[in-house]
Amino acid sequence: MSNYGASDILIRRLADIRSMGLERRLVPIKSFEGTWVMVEGRRLLLMAGNDYLGLTGHPRLKEAALRAVEAFGTGTGSSRLICGTHCIHSIIEEEIARFARSEAALFFNTGYMANLGAVTGLARPGDYIVSDEFNHASIIDACRLSRAAVKVYPHRDAEAALDLLSKAPRDCLKLLVTEGVFSMDGDEAPLPDLLEAARIHKAILMVDDAHAVGVRGPGGRGTWEEMGLSPCPELVLIGTFSKALGGTGGFVAACSEVINSLVNNARPFIYTTAPPPSQIAAARESLRVIGEEPERRERLEALCGHFRERLMEEGFETTSASGPIIPILIGDAGDALAMAAALLENGVLAPAVRPPTVPKGSSRLRLTVTASHRIEELDQAVEALCLAREAMECQRHQAYL
Ligand SMILES: Cc1ncc(COP(=O)(O)O)c(C=O)c1O
Repeated sequence: MSNYGASDILIRRLADIRSMGLERRLVPIKSFEGTWVMVEGRRLLLMAGNDYLGLTGHPRLKEAALRAVEAFGTGTGSSRLICGTHCIHSIIEEEIARFARSEAALFFNTGYMANLGAVTGLARPGDYIVSDEFNHASIIDACRLSRAAVKVYPHRDAEAALDLLSKAPRDCLKLLVTEGVFSMDGDEAPLPDLLEAARIHKAILMVDDAHAVGVRGPGGRGTWEEMGLSPCPELVLIGTFSKALGGTGGFVAACSEVINSLVNNARPFIYTTAPPPSQIAAARESLRVIGEEPERRERLEALCGHFRERLMEEGFETTSASGPIIPILIGDAGDALAMAAALLENGVLAPAVRPPTVPKGSSRLRLTVTASHRIEELDQAVEALCLAREAMECQRHQAYL
């Protein structure tokens, strides 16, 4: 009987991934200069990041972080519940609650951990979770980790969610979980209908607004604000500082019972070292900046409109969603890789997104626009896409011959 060693097994598994066109590779970026990056000696136009408002290099955020390092050092040396809670953690949690118009809030080291913590801190075996089929990996992982019963409904189908909620066992805790703006398609969840479904069945509606905070709604508060909802006890909001807010760190904003439950039960909150004051200081400043510089959102909206229009003119197939996430659907993973490589040849960095990040057969380029892009840069990206498409067609033609 053969007995494979661990390394043989891993080599075989990696070869399988490679043969399916699904291998992933790290691409180190040497330097950033606005929307341009240096990669392997080449200057490339970045069309794939989530720094939607261009805040990662904002002087006020940088200065706030530097001042916090000077004042408090580089780390906290302890988890929040032992001796890692500094005043600045409590202050930002009050500020997040004010921003989200919720009773209370909790800061997490990352958005991923906020999702893990929010779901596993509330749901336990015997409870019941209803989840959108396109929810982010962090939500899927959180649902699995909770060991609650998990039912998945078709994308954005509030009626199906309502139906699944009606089948929940009596007296268990029920969670309905969705993204506000979906990370890979850029479309929005039907929050008013989902909230209604949650209310009918006395469930909590948990909205991961990672891609909407800072961008959607008149105050940049997210999808719920854009859709005219008011925060209420059934609504749990999750956000991240790592995308439009230009830093790192996640948060949950909700009523006090929810937040107290997380402080007591959320292992990704409890069993990790508290985030450093510099991270919190930058996050605090980003909340101020998005309040004081609404023109960034306005500029972003105008640029997104321009880019979508140009793509449509050139016959690219994208979704009908608005906002800075603009997928170009390709289908096959190998084709998406080839398209991304051709785009790179033409000076644009937008890696292919493939399964398991998106469903099989829906590989794509996920292009993103930020408020830092210039119109000419977006036009340049469209031109590069046209050239990449031509190169692909040429390759296909040659293969046929
Ligand atoms: C929808 C969604 N939720 C959560 C996260 C995780 O956020 P963070 O990068 O802050 O960990 C991401 C980012 O990849 C995301 O797209």
